[in-house]
Amino acid sequence: MKNYKLAVIPGDGTGPEVVAEGLKVLKAVSEKCRFKYTTTNYDFGGERYLRTKEVLPKTAVKELKTFDAIFLGAIGHPDVKPGILEKGILLKLRFDLDQYINLRPVVLYDERFCPLKDKTPDDVHFTVIRENSEGLYKGLGEFRNKGKKNEVAIQVSHNTRKGVERCLRYAFEYTKKFGRKKKLTLCGKTNVLTFAFDLWERTFHEIAKEYPDITTDYAHVDATTMWFVKNPEWFDVIVTDNMFGDIITDLGAMIQGGMGIAAGGNINPNGVSMFEPIGGSAPKYTGKNIINPLAAICAMGMLLREVGEANAADLIETSVKKIVREKLKTLAAGKMGYSTAQVGDLVVENL
Ligand code: IPM
Ligand code: MN
Repeated sequence: MKNYKLAVIPGDGTGPEVVAEGLKVLKAVSEKCRFKYTTTNYDFGGERYLRTKEVLPKTAVKELKTFDAIFLGAIGHPDVKPGILEKGILLKLRFDLDQYINLRPVVLYDERFCPLKDKTPDDVHFTVIRENSEGLYKGLGEFRNKGKKNEVAIQVSHNTRKGVERCLRYAFEYTKKFGRKKKLTLCGKTNVLTFAFDLWERTFHEIAKEYPDITTDYAHVDATTMWFVKNPEWFDVIVTDNMFGDIITDLGAMIQGGMGIAAGGNINPNGVSMFEPIGGSAPKYTGKNIINPLAAICAMGMLLREVGEANAADLIETSVKKIVREKLKTLAAGKMGYSTAQVGDLVVENL
């Protein structure tokens, strides 16, 4: 029997509440699908930082590398200056564990929850593959004359051929395996970012030659946001850089019903991957047992698919879809008609 070694980082705010539901579903599905697992908790996050003044222990990355996967709740604390925890924990783990893919499915389970008029689950069903290790997130740049009238702030998007190519190759393979229409769209800004997206576009067309069965397409990022709203059914798999991927996946989350259901994976195809609900720590809902745990539960489904438990992942997806369609009043915190824990129970009951 397989025995998976999972690291759990509940994190800040509502993170621990949604992680608990993800683990509840993991327990149930492991019994059904007959696999074992152990979990090891890590207290990384704002509370720990405020207590110890240390964002991440020195040994964290080394230790995390020994797991089969990582399950993360949320990082972000109202008493900590923005940027410290995000850069020091979330981005550091993505970079140091070389999780160069951020996989974000945009799937609408019930048209009641779509803010777009007349769009159905058949229309809103695509995946964004966001480059997760480079671009503007590399943090390159500088201030010149900081604080003076002639101040200049420079922030550079750093794109390497190696980084772009491995992301695009993942995207082509993903489209081949999972694409509903075998169509891959590159989202960029070739008309303005004539260095970065020239590299992306050239590499895209080069690799496309190896995949004659995949239809390729290109959309500028601004137009992409327009199509998300007007014609989301045009998309199958979208690949884009780190910054654009960050932005368009928040819009993606909204058209699939909101942050309550949006999950993502930070993937290192040759190493340890980390799965998380993509919404934040939601301080105002913390401790109230009203936050929607489905994003975390879906992230657990993605984790299981990545480690090789596709059956378990399918069971979770089917159960989530069923309770979204048949039980929940809305996907928003406090308005679901059920508490956080009850939603977890419903998913378990319908597995
Ligand atoms: C996300 C988040 C992060 C990002 C922040 C918290 C650093 O917005 O996962 O999309 O920008 O990647
Ligand atoms: Mn984001």
